[in-house]
Amino acid sequence: MKRAGITTVWVRAPSGRYPVWVGSGLLRDAGRRLRRLRPRCRRLFVVSSPRIWRLWGGELQRGTRAAGLRVETLLMNDREANKRLATVERLAGELVARGADRGSLLAALGGGVVGDVAGFLAASYMRGVDYVQIPTTLVGQVDSALGGKTGVNLGGGKNLLGAFHPPVAVVVDPRALASLPDREFRAGLYEVVKGAVVGDATLFRFLEKRLPAVLGRNQAALRVILLRSIGLKARIVSRDEREQGRRRALNFGHTVGHALETLGGYRGLRHGEAVAYGMIAATLVAARLGRVPAPTAARILALVRSVGRLPPLPRVSPAEIYRQLFADKKKQGARLVFVLPRGLGRVETVSGVPRAAVLAALRELPAASSTR
Ligand SMILES: NC(=O)c1ccc[n+]([C@@H]2O[C@H](COP(=O)([O-])OP(=O)(O)OC[C@H]3O[C@@H](n4cnc5c(N)ncnc54)[C@H](O)[C@@H]3O)[C@@H](O)[C@H]2O)c1
Ligand SMILES: [Zn+2]
Repeated sequence: MKRAGITTVWVRAPSGRYPVWVGSGLLRDAGRRLRRLRPRCRRLFVVSSPRIWRLWGGELQRGTRAAGLRVETLLMNDREANKRLATVERLAGELVARGADRGSLLAALGGGVVGDVAGFLAASYMRGVDYVQIPTTLVGQVDSALGGKTGVNLGGGKNLLGAFHPPVAVVVDPRALASLPDREFRAGLYEVVKGAVVGDATLFRFLEKRLPAVLGRNQAALRVILLRSIGLKARIVSRDEREQGRRRALNFGHTVGHALETLGGYRGLRHGEAVAYGMIAATLVAARLGRVPAPTAARILALVRSVGRLPPLPRVSPAEIYRQLFADKKKQGARLVFVLPRGLGRVETVSGVPRAAVLAALRELPAASSTR
């Protein structure tokens, strides 16, 4: 469905269907659309960070006020270290103090950290209230805001406490990316590359050809990558919301990625950068096991590397990374589950990948990730 440059992509999940609106200027139009979605709602509780609110809150607020919705802000520091239960508890306390009830509508305006926290708050506040995702990072727009996974970190690892709670709508305004620091933008591009490898060979080829335009945030190129990535994720989530089968494919790069994030203490690597290392590691494993043609593996490695220079890996040995893989919740019993590339736009889930192959790939990782 297309109108005035706004495209609606539908997620049709078992728990309900919801629209993902994609187009320039949507921040300003969000209020009117939400009002139509929830005609009886008068107050919108927006979870955001002070910085993001300063940058984009005004625009959201203008349109929302004009639509007759009152905006109330709940601000949080959106460092990854703050993605924890204490933050959810504090925000829930604020909701109580302001009289939010079961019929209240929440919104997450920010990146994945704000989205995951606000989503978990919405999942648990009074046993669940409706919420809207308004992602302002590329990671958020192509990945974290879609699919209904919400949660916070525990000392022992990422996203260990959470819930599936799909939003009632997702608002994707590519203009919000204009203020995104370059490093964050590139971190998001790695998730776009992930989607291409997992299920969209056309997107993969587009990125190979048009990466400079994408990195220059050319609006037309941005629109292509947003729509293709969102379309792919919407299709996968619609078929497998609770990650029993197909959705696992989206964890390509995340097995090693999550381990690196945890070992680096959330400071060293951005989520997308950790996923980039994870995709390189998984591709090396697949190549070692002879499960992907060598030229395909080479193209995947080249595309990941061409996004930019990655910050150094946390200073840990391959053996330590390997051990951390078993602390991750995505293992099954003691068998390591890896999503491995098979071709462009095609991956497979392999359990029981031999330790030797993983360790060898991890040893190769620093050299294979270097752009020089
Ligand atoms: N729920 C899911 O399915 C899912 C999927 C992928 C990632 N995640 C989670 O998302 C988190 C990472 O999210 P992220 O990469 O969006 O990073 P983030 O939320 O940490 O945001 C990155 C930085 O960019 C700033 N920022 C955000 N939008 C901005 C804008 N428009 N202009 C300027 N600055 C802006 C933020 O304040 C922050 O400093 C991780 O916690 C990860 O686990 C969740
Ligand atoms: Zn991710």
